[in-house]
Formats: sequence, structure tokens, C-alpha cells
Amino acid sequence: MNKKIPTMSRISLLFVCLGNICRSPTAHVVFESMVNAKGLADRIHVDSAGTGDWHLGKAPDTRSSATALERGYDMSNLKSRLVTSDDFLNFDYIIAMDSKNLADMHAMSPPNFEGIIRLMLDYSQSDRYLDVREVPDPYYGGEDGFPFVVDLIEDASKGLLDSIIAELD
Ligand code: 4NP
Repeated sequence: MNKKIPTMSRISLLFVCLGNICRSPTAHVVFESMVNAKGLADRIHVDSAGTGDWHLGKAPDTRSSATALERGYDMSNLKSRLVTSDDFLNFDYIIAMDSKNLADMHAMSPPNFEGIIRLMLDYSQSDRYLDVREVPDPYYGGEDGFPFVVDLIEDASKGLLDSIIAELD
């Protein structure tokens, strides 16, 4: 027998990485832009946060924001913040960029957390990315790491948005 998944009137998602200046802000603006394009801004709420505090209150990395802007995504309103215990009360989905972020979110989640904690690339669509399970941290890598982050996140965002839309009533 199929388990009926309850539908929801509003769904909130938090994207999480380490510094909240490269990968999770990219996921934030890419996913939010897809939500807006579908006219769902009042039904789907999006935010991002990090597990490390080095860049608190700072704007995204300029390499990430420039790459995002070239692809049509504006990060100019974002500032780095930490994941907090309240996030587990306020968000239905916590989407981690890599397996360390995923483990940190499981470790932080209270026993009564009823939401979903998943890896971003669990939602990948393209066969091209079948072997890539994590969004690689571009911070200490070369310039080509930044467009690859956008490629991976655009692809997974389509799958994630389809699954979220299926849960809206
Ligand atoms: P993010 O990248 O987790 O994608 O924001 C990083 C940004 C900064 C540092 C590490 C990763 N850092 O060590 O300062």
C-alpha cells in the first residue's frame, strides 16, 4: 500500500554549506530564481546558512557572486550567517552541499525534528553528474570550480523544485 504523503500550503528550505559564502548562497539564488519564475514565491521560502563562522555578516565570495551574476543570479542581498537551533523549527527541508555538512546537520537536529535533511545532489537530473554526489568546495580551488558549482546546482535545483511542487497542496 502506498503511504500518502501529506501536502503542505507553504514549504521552507534552508541550503547549508561550510562558509555560507560560495555554495549555499549559489543554491539560495538559483533555487529562488526558479521558484520566482514559477510564481511560487508566496508558497516556497528559501534561505541559506553555514556551519563555520569565519565570514559571518559578510557578502558572498566575489568569485561566486560574479559567476552567479554572469548566469543571471543576483547575490547582492545575501550575508553569511550560521545555522541555528531555530532553523530546525522554521525549515521543512535542510539541504546540505556536501557529506560533512550533511553529518553536521544530522548532529545538530533535535530528536523531534520532523523535516527532511538531504544532500543537494540527491536531486540531480542529468546523467552527466551521476558520479558527483557532493557540490565540491570551490573556495581554495581554481576559477573553473565556480561555474561547475552553478552547473551542478542548476541541475539539482530542477529536481528539487519538482519534488517540492509535488508536496504543495
Ligand atoms: P562554502 O565555501 O562552504 O561553499 O561557502 C567556503 C568558504 C570559506 C571557507 C571554506 C569554504 N573558509 O575556510 O573560509
